[in-house]
Formats: sequence, C-alpha cells, structure tokens
Amino acid sequence: GVHRSFYDEVGGHETFEKLTSVFYREVAADEILRPMYPEEDLGPAERRLRMFLEQYWGGPRTYSDERGHPRLRMRHQPFTIGPIERDAWLRCMHTAIASIDDDTLDAPHRQALVDYMEMAAQSMVNSPL
Ligand code: HEM
Repeated sequence: GVHRSFYDEVGGHETFEKLTSVFYREVAADEILRPMYPEEDLGPAERRLRMFLEQYWGGPRTYSDERGHPRLRMRHQPFTIGPIERDAWLRCMHTAIASIDDDTLDAPHRQALVDYMEMAAQSMVNSPL
C-alpha cells in the first residue's frame, strides 16, 4: 500500500532484532522469568517473539506462516503468569524499548510500543498470584 507501516517507520527488522535481543538478554538474567522457559536455548523463543512483533506491527507475516494463528493467551496457558511474572516481563521489555535510540524511535512511536506492551502483558495474566 501507499502507507508506511509502523514496522517501517521505526526501522524495520533491525529495530525488532535489537528489541528482542535486549529483551532476551534481560530474561536470561531474570530469576523469575528464566526458570519459566522450557528450553535451555532462548534463541528459538527470541525468534518467535521477534516474528510475532514484526507481524503485529505490519512487517513480514513469517510468524503466522510458521506458527499459524498467534492465540497468545492460549499458548501462555501452560505458564503461571501472575502480577509478579507480568511485572518481570514488562521490566525486561521496558529495558529493551529504552535501548532503541530516539532517532529510530521517536516519542509517539515509543509511547505506542509501551502502551501496547502494557496492554498485552496484562492480557496474558492467567493467575491471581
Ligand atoms: C512464548 C512467558 C507475555 C509473546 C512464551 C514462553 C514463555 C512466555 C515462558 C515460551 C517460550 C517459547 O517457547 O516461545 C511470558 C510471560 C509473560 C509473557 C511470563 C508475562 C506477561 C507475552 C507478551 C507477548 C508474548 C505480552 C506479546 C506481546 C510470546 C510469543 C511466544 C511466547 C509470540 C511464542 C508463541 C509460540 O509458540 O509461537 N512466553 N510471556 N508473551 N510469548 Fe510470552
């Protein structure tokens, strides 16, 4: 189409690569989150999150080509996600968003990303504790 997507506006693949790489570096060091991940290697999980976010923001649709409909709430059902896990996830994501410079991510785009992550993390909560 004639409209640039949010994905294009914030620097495309390179930006999402940086975002998920910093996010998973934080997850790897987080004592709440790290034990929740079933695989030793966080690389595949990092790639799935990157593909999902790229697709969500108007980039390539590789996530759905490989994984089908996201159904994220269902896919998180095996994990106990309460306020503590949500806050740990958001802390890692805020660090990741903060690592993207202002030329790449201006204030309105940054705010849109933060708002989305807070909404999405809340929607994944499946336990009161
Ligand atoms: C998968 C934890 C929120 C997107 C996973 C996995 C864990 C996890 C343990 C399995 C790792 C894997 O094999 O991929 C959490 C926790 C959250 C949270 C504790 C706290 C709220 C979110 C949010 C999003 C998200 C807000 C999206 C914005 C994904 C995606 C996958 C995934 C795309 C891979 C799904 C697939 O199998 O295709 N998450 N997550 N997660 N998570 Fe989360």
